[in-house]
Amino acid sequence: MKNIAILGLGVVGKGTADLLEANKALIERRIGEPVNIKYILDLRDFPGTPYENKVVHDFSVILNDSEVELVAETMGGAHPAFDYSLAALKAGKCVVTSNKEVVATFGEELLAAARENGVSYAFEASVGGGIPIIRPLVTDFIANKIVEISGILNGTTNYILTEMKTKGKSYADALSEAQAKGYAEKDPTADVEGIDTCRKICILTGLASGILPDAKKVKTVGISAVDGTDVKLLEKNGYAVKLLGRMKLCDTVPCLIVAPFVCGNNSPLAHVDDVFNGITVCGNTLGQTMFYGRGAGADPTASAVANDILSILKDGKTSFAPAFVSEKDGDVLSSELFACRRYVRTSMAKADVEALLGAVCDLGGAYITEKELSEAEFDKFADKFDSSLRVL
Ligand code: HSE
Repeated sequence: MKNIAILGLGVVGKGTADLLEANKALIERRIGEPVNIKYILDLRDFPGTPYENKVVHDFSVILNDSEVELVAETMGGAHPAFDYSLAALKAGKCVVTSNKEVVATFGEELLAAARENGVSYAFEASVGGGIPIIRPLVTDFIANKIVEISGILNGTTNYILTEMKTKGKSYADALSEAQAKGYAEKDPTADVEGIDTCRKICILTGLASGILPDAKKVKTVGISAVDGTDVKLLEKNGYAVKLLGRMKLCDTVPCLIVAPFVCGNNSPLAHVDDVFNGITVCGNTLGQTMFYGRGAGADPTASAVANDILSILKDGKTSFAPAFVSEKDGDVLSSELFACRRYVRTSMAKADVEALLGAVCDLGGAYITEKELSEAEFDKFADKFDSSLRVL
């Protein structure tokens, strides 16, 4: 029998426990022996549930039990999730997590601790909910230089933008619904202001380039300032607005930004709606590949956590061992250098817009530039327009 512990019986932890129970027979067949949740760490008790006899309130019970091979950290937040994860790795226990804040902030240290102690630290559920993206990035692109990643990485904001676009719902109503469905973070600021997306694109960049960018240095613009007038005007012209986390490699140096982008109908990301996430990864020999699936919610995220648990129990303690190091000066380009085309809404004549931004495509009351402008270049003209957005 394989014994594991779950830290935190919230949306993801409970989803994981329920999944391991629901698929018990199939899991035993595939792993070759039963997988037993020996402990659940939580501040609460869960009387009358199947988990009431497993609940402990003291992490040291788990840490000191040599029968526990693996710990699933589904607590959220930086502390004590990081501290418990590090202690478990140092005690020779594998750790899997859905916690993007911990991976984006402490990933280098935790992966190093895993390697030093002959165990795995796996975090498939930290990006893209149920979509397998972490393991494919590590294993299936091994022969490619990854030159670009663009992703709709937050289910809550994609749900909100989709409801606003297709049903004309208010921002507040759509956000409440996303929270009720268990998509949103405890504090939805991390979702709507792009912080969650930023952590996720940093993790993907870390795996793709070997350098984990400092999320605090990445220019991050959320969706709270997206204007309904632009969403409607763009929709009429065949465009959708999506919150994207983007990484482009300039030679060998990554450059990142998080912001709402205008996506044309010819981009697969324009058609990723509702709670779904979509991630395009461009390899220098493979070209563009797309990953698509449910990006938030109990079941999809639990699926990714459980897959990590079972892959490690099946393939061995050291089976997942990616590596990256945290950004040092010069390792990552400033977001100010990120260049993309621009959408501007204005009553100015086309010729006047072109005098500032070069040739543009006319959308009727708004324009899209033909050339790419860096953040620094566009900022010189930004206040001349009623609104502006970046274009994928
Ligand atoms: N709040 C996150 C989202 C949860 O909406 O995508 C999944 O990471």
